[in-house]
Amino acid sequence: MPSATSLVARSYPDKIIGVENTLPWHLGTDLKHFKSRTQGHAVIMGRKTFESIGRPLPNRRNIILSRHLIEDTENVKWAPNPETALLIADQYSIINLKKEFFVIGGEEIYNIFHKYINIVFLTDVFSGPINGDAKFEREFDGREWWFRFEKEFPKSESDDYAFRISCIVRRKPFHRFASKNEFSADDRAVWDAWARYEAMMDRSNPETVLEPSQLDLLSEL
Ligand SMILES: NC(=O)c1ccc[n+]([C@@H]2O[C@H](COP(=O)([O-])OP(=O)(O)OC[C@H]3O[C@@H](n4cnc5c(N)ncnc54)[C@H](OP(=O)(O)O)[C@@H]3O)[C@@H](O)[C@H]2O)c1
Repeated sequence: MPSATSLVARSYPDKIIGVENTLPWHLGTDLKHFKSRTQGHAVIMGRKTFESIGRPLPNRRNIILSRHLIEDTENVKWAPNPETALLIADQYSIINLKKEFFVIGGEEIYNIFHKYINIVFLTDVFSGPINGDAKFEREFDGREWWFRFEKEFPKSESDDYAFRISCIVRRKPFHRFASKNEFSADDRAVWDAWARYEAMMDRSNPETVLEPSQLDLLSEL
């Protein structure tokens, strides 16, 4: 199955990610990175984050976790539980030949999916102490994770604070598997795309989940 990647921006040193359901900063360059990395992919988010964004993210399959019904549209799919969110993300990724999908917050949703995440793009925002009600407190132990690369950005007209984006990779990727029959028998589009997807994944090993073009994204900012 496709691999899960998360993107999160938190304050340094307090690890705050949100206040009263908004982001505590405007970081235009970080948003540009978020957009270019997630374009064309499935993104999983919590209902509160969906409301804080205020609209579906364009050119992405928006999968919204909520215990209460959310009307589906072409780009928005309701997931009443984490298993359904994964199923929708997997099906979309297979049909569109994407090796990864993204978990984009907030606090509750990062915690639910953490065990599946193989790559984290962590933005440390050098804001100093700030107040907030949503946090991302996870530490990345060097025995389990490695810092593959990082890049620092200065405060600028489009960025309220200086920040650093780190790419953190799980040393032993978490692989999820499903058989074609149990997974897609009643979905013709997934069934049809399966062989092409399988061939693509066969050629890849965990190291190539991050393709060179993806690594280049940071240098383009
Ligand atoms: N800095 C960043 O990178 C970043 C990224 C994203 C978000 N944020 C911030 O994070 C904050 C929001 O985080 P949050 O933790 O409060 O909310 P959240 O994770 O966005 O959403 C929580 C909601 O998800 C649904 N949910 C949770 N577990 C579920 C389950 N097992 N099954 C079905 N639905 C489930 C529930 O929706 P219902 O109540 O509808 O049932 C719950 O209220 C905001 O301030 C936002 O701006 C920051």
